[in-house]
Amino acid sequence: MKPEERLAASGVRVERCLERWLPVASAEPRRLHEAMRYAVLGGGKRVRPALVYFTGAALGLPETRLDGPAAAVELIHAYSLVHDDLPAMDDDDLRRGRPTCHRAYDEATAILVGDALQVLALEILAVDPEMVRNPAQRLEIIRLLARASGTAGMAGGQAVDLEAAGQTLPIAALERMHRLKTGALIHASVMMAAASADGLDASFTAALDTYGAAIGLAFQIQDDILDVEGDADVLGKRTQADAARAKPNYPSIVGLPEAKARLRELHDEALEALAVFGAEAEALRWLSGWLTERRH
Ligand code: IPE
Ligand code: IPE
Ligand code: MG
Ligand code: MG
Ligand code: MG
Repeated sequence: MKPEERLAASGVRVERCLERWLPVASAEPRRLHEAMRYAVLGGGKRVRPALVYFTGAALGLPETRLDGPAAAVELIHAYSLVHDDLPAMDDDDLRRGRPTCHRAYDEATAILVGDALQVLALEILAVDPEMVRNPAQRLEIIRLLARASGTAGMAGGQAVDLEAAGQTLPIAALERMHRLKTGALIHASVMMAAASADGLDASFTAALDTYGAAIGLAFQIQDDILDVEGDADVLGKRTQADAARAKPNYPSIVGLPEAKARLRELHDEALEALAVFGAEAEALRWLSGWLTERRH
């Protein structure tokens, strides 16, 4: 299968899992359940689940073992988008080509959607019978996702992002913010798959750690670049959003050419890290390139 096809296939696969884990819309409280399904299903590139599956493929793991972590990280990501779009944060009206959750429903519902998606993610990791059997490995997977979501990860990065409005950050501080708010969940996607392997050699764990960190930062740099030069119709969200809220982003601080040069550097770093793998990591190599060239 070509890598593009593998990306599409992993998207279909996780969509089916998410569909199964999400509460049905006909169950009470219906409005909340409907809004949760609205926020998660039928949109999004599903990059984080793809990273879980592609890392699993590099390690020769069965896909059934990866379904739980893939669904869980996408739920945390979807929750982070719902809250990110709220009026108190980025105040955006468009997400994945549709009205944002608080626009389609209301703010209070959108807050609860985030609350419920976040704990559903952790519940899946606690109970999914297909995941790795060893309880210590399961706990490590839960720890990885929890840590990447909290103050040492996404939530912490979002706090820095809010504080940074109206300021210009030194580039090192901006990179730190990006690694937290976006990089941490991407890194966790890779590391949860690594934690699903039995007796993984430390050199592979270290390689995946470096790979995940590099593409995690690269992902937010490309998001910032697309905010400046992307097409809202293709992106499915508004552009110039950072400038509108006076949020420092990568190109606003170093300029577009240097932002793009940094992307290439991080892509090289990601590829170099994967040198310990053979053809089984081809999809991971391809995905790093795809992420730096994506237009949506
Ligand atoms: C957007 O993430 C928000 C960031 C963390 C940069 P994605 O670009 O992965 O959004 P979807 O899931 O494809 O909509
Ligand atoms: C989002 O960063 C990071 C999250 C943790 C959701 P942005 O605010 O730049 O993401 P978009 O551009 O709204 O998708
Ligand atoms: Mg934001
Ligand atoms: Mg935003
Ligand atoms: Mg953005």
